[in-house]
Amino acid sequence: MEVVIVPDAKAGGELVARTLAQLLARKPDTLLGVATGSTPLPVYRALAELVRSGEADVSRARICQLDEYVGLPAGHPESYRSVVLREVVAPLGLSPEAFIGPDGTAEDLPAACEAYDRALAEAGGVDLQLLGIGTDGHIGFNEPCSSLASRTRIKTLTERTRADNARFFGGDVAQVPHHVITQGIGTILDARHVVLLATGEGKAEAVAQAVEGPVAAVCPASALQLHPHATVVVDEAAASRLKLAGYFRQTYAAKPHWQGL
Ligand code: PGA
Repeated sequence: MEVVIVPDAKAGGELVARTLAQLLARKPDTLLGVATGSTPLPVYRALAELVRSGEADVSRARICQLDEYVGLPAGHPESYRSVVLREVVAPLGLSPEAFIGPDGTAEDLPAACEAYDRALAEAGGVDLQLLGIGTDGHIGFNEPCSSLASRTRIKTLTERTRADNARFFGGDVAQVPHHVITQGIGTILDARHVVLLATGEGKAEAVAQAVEGPVAAVCPASALQLHPHATVVVDEAAASRLKLAGYFRQTYAAKPHWQGL
């Protein structure tokens, strides 16, 4: 995998947004897999800026969701459908019809999970999947020891993830659902390009395990080592435990510009 160390979250957002603009120029109906959480927000802001300045055309872009809480009522402001509509679909001026996601309110949740995997395949597969990383190494909501071959399914959140996400629920961990639907690790690995973003010291250990540790289900993000086109964009703080940081800096500095990410 390629590791790119950027000065800060804003620079990471701009780099990834420029990559998306290039992808959209090559493939206007790109299916972009978006992640929620705080980390990717600078990407969405930078992409909206490129759209405003005419440097990115998202008029035919399609968006798909990585994961979703189970049990929140439809339209709950912290359901990931609501978050993606608010943070990505509306600022980019996309139609909600251009956006697909799993139904966390379905009566038959296993059927909803299968239907989502089918919908992704029928849409032609994800062109670029954005990912954050949990402090426990999760991608999507694939918590430690998730099957590396998993497909979209129901998962139970660890207490650590629920505590990490309590900030979105007024700091009250009791409001954070226990269950989620998440693209499986196998589903994520089907994307043509995977871009994982991490910022802040709190992610440094998870990033080091994912990039330099063994491929192991105990660190789900390490599965990206098996992907032919995985990019990890980290700020200085999130890169602080990487033993090969110097090598990553040199290789990126020497990379021909035309190659992009
Ligand atoms: P964060 O979440 O970007 O809000 O830190 C990342 C994740 O849990 O995958």
